[in-house]
Amino acid sequence: MARILGIGIATIDIINHVSSYPAEDDEVRALSQQQVRGGNVTNTLVVLSQQGHDCDWCGVLIDEADTAIVEQDLQHYQINYQHCQWIDQGKMPTSYITLSEASGSRSIVHYRDCPELSFSHFSELELSVYDWLHFEGRNIDELSRMLQWVKLNCPTLRCSLEVEKPRQGIEALFELADVLMFSRPYAQSRGYQTAADFLNSLNHDGLMTCSWGEQGAWLKHQGMVLHSAAFPPEQVVDTLGAGDTFNAGLISALVNGLSAGLALEQACRLAGCKCGQTGFANLDKAL
Ligand code: ADP
Ligand code: FRU
Repeated sequence: MARILGIGIATIDIINHVSSYPAEDDEVRALSQQQVRGGNVTNTLVVLSQQGHDCDWCGVLIDEADTAIVEQDLQHYQINYQHCQWIDQGKMPTSYITLSEASGSRSIVHYRDCPELSFSHFSELELSVYDWLHFEGRNIDELSRMLQWVKLNCPTLRCSLEVEKPRQGIEALFELADVLMFSRPYAQSRGYQTAADFLNSLNHDGLMTCSWGEQGAWLKHQGMVLHSAAFPPEQVVDTLGAGDTFNAGLISALVNGLSAGLALEQACRLAGCKCGQTGFANLDKAL
């Protein structure tokens, strides 16, 4: 069991389940609707907690009615959020999600009126109690200061960085993290058609992964590129947060001392289980 701190966002996810994805200008009725907590880093922590780790989240919470959805879910999964920054104006970031039952695909429209976590808030945290820090690749200027702070003050503390979206200046952060988790959209935004070509284009002292949906994921470590196929469930039900679950599986395996190859396989296995069910519950039994 490790003590893990995640830095990133929590969202309110309003998920409309539809039988198939609507065409533009169409009007369809949702089969059902859910309002749940989402957000990459908190999704990852919810899965890590079920893998037996002791998880803390640091991010921004707005003092408004919907925040109760986030708090209840974090409490349910025993994620400590006492280090969060509370703001009394704005709205919790909200995602309007269309989940197609035909394909399991999720399409997201995201709205935010919420400040990002500041470096000054982060710098007050006692980091020496943690075994691993996981950062969402956003808010690049402040994040750069956070990662440099960790390198300076806790040089042996392992850090992972999720690089999901191309954001200006994000490349400068790569050398500050031990583990980099890239997404297919990011690799494609850099002009690569395959995860292996993308990973081979980078030199990084640590470990890098690039997940590629139903094709599984690739990993580069010590100059070697490895691949794990996906573990398709009987039926793909919900791919929302598959990447966040993959990241949790990877971190859990690495912090437990598994080899790079086994960590990659475990991450794909856990993400495959998640795709076969709605939401993130019961993933403690997945591996
Ligand atoms: P994201 O959720 O960020 O878009 P991906 O689509 O790359 O991330 O998915 C992350 C991981 O989840 C993949 O590497 C794969 O292991 C698993 N996964 C995604 N889609 C499927 C699927 N349809 N069937 C089985 N596994 C999947
Ligand atoms: C899934 C997710 C959702 C959230 C959105 C934010 O990966 O974290 O829960 O609404 O992405 O970009």
